[in-house]
Amino acid sequence: MEKFWLKKAREAWSVPAGTPDGVLLEKVRSGVETLSDLFTTERPGNGKFRDYMSDPKLLAAYGLFFFPQSFARASFSVRRLLDVYAWNPLGSDETPLRILDLGSGASPCGFAAAEIFREKFPERKTVITAFDRSRAAVQAAREIAQNTGSEKNPQVSVETLVGDLKKLVPAKLGLPPQDLILLGWSLNEAVPANEDAFPFLKNLAPLLSKNGAIVVLEPALKLTAERLRRASDSVAQNPGNPFFRLAPELGNHTCPLLREGIFWEHEVRKWTPPESLEFLNRTLFRDISCLKFAWSAFGKKPGKHFDVPAGAAELLRLVSPLEATKTCLRFTGINPAGEKKSVEIPTRGLSKSEVKKIAAEWERGDLAALAGTLSPLGNAGHFRLDGKLLPPEL
Ligand SMILES: C[S@@+](CC[C@H](N)C(=O)[O-])C[C@H]1O[C@@H](n2cnc3c(N)ncnc32)[C@H](O)[C@@H]1O
Repeated sequence: MEKFWLKKAREAWSVPAGTPDGVLLEKVRSGVETLSDLFTTERPGNGKFRDYMSDPKLLAAYGLFFFPQSFARASFSVRRLLDVYAWNPLGSDETPLRILDLGSGASPCGFAAAEIFREKFPERKTVITAFDRSRAAVQAAREIAQNTGSEKNPQVSVETLVGDLKKLVPAKLGLPPQDLILLGWSLNEAVPANEDAFPFLKNLAPLLSKNGAIVVLEPALKLTAERLRRASDSVAQNPGNPFFRLAPELGNHTCPLLREGIFWEHEVRKWTPPESLEFLNRTLFRDISCLKFAWSAFGKKPGKHFDVPAGAAELLRLVSPLEATKTCLRFTGINPAGEKKSVEIPTRGLSKSEVKKIAAEWERGDLAALAGTLSPLGNAGHFRLDGKLLPPEL
């Protein structure tokens, strides 16, 4: 898809064919800066984002810098929902799998999910419905499907809808039940980040199939990540609402980090950015080595029940990095009951490189079975593990 966006950028900046990509990307960088500021330091306080996707230069800049990141983050979340959280979207065998991408832009999240569906359910066709207020953005999704996506994946087709998520009345969309509804970095634009997101999410229930899932991806900013956790807590804590929590928490507890208000839950995942993105970043100096984002998944059926694996002392989901100090490895995690535990693992007997290797293996968001003896330390919630971390048998 990189080639597609380079072509779009060439058209938007009227750069003649044959001009080296580097010259083009030097121009595109100003568009990336504008978008990056809009998403962070210059976020509109009233939540009213301008329709930046309808500006061809900003659309292409988005395509080269943010599209690959959205694609990778959505791939990660949908894959994890299937593999770790045991979500199964299959209902009847007759219909194609349907993905509704709300605030889709050019639908990086939709394409990412479709690629995973193709891999997991090769016998099924997939229909992506890309919904956005920007006609230019959903048109780009169609072009991607024609130019690149369909070649690789004839099982996928793209339909488009132009509309305003703020006025979305699900019944009026007249869509068949959707197996996956995605909101990739669009919730915070459609519902100002200081408002409760739960009523908006609840309104999507009539669109979702009985085995379906809603996956919401949001910026890892405190404001947006905490708001998503509050919505997730509302889902988990209110029996009788249309959804159950599916991921990423391991149980139906409220978020302990939210109660404390110091740190906030988000994933930090290493990835390999495309070359054009790396080039754009040369003078932007953003940290693009990791993808940081908050996510949540909800469905109409209860999620997987997580237990401490047999023989382990605890099961934790890492909500901090795994840090190596001179004497130990330490991290904080949350167990299926919602208890936050800070754990130190003495590294006596391990070489520096062994410690470094272990620290690099574990990422924020991973699930770890604590194999060994877990003993309380002086401070409440602090423990020492004489043993090691293992990926739990799922
Ligand atoms: C940050 S972009 C995310 C695009 C894409 N989902 C992704 O993951 O990269 C937010 C998208 O939401 C769309 N959007 C914002 N407010 C909207 C609204 N009220 N109705 C429909 N789309 C909206 C924007 O046009 C934009 O395409």
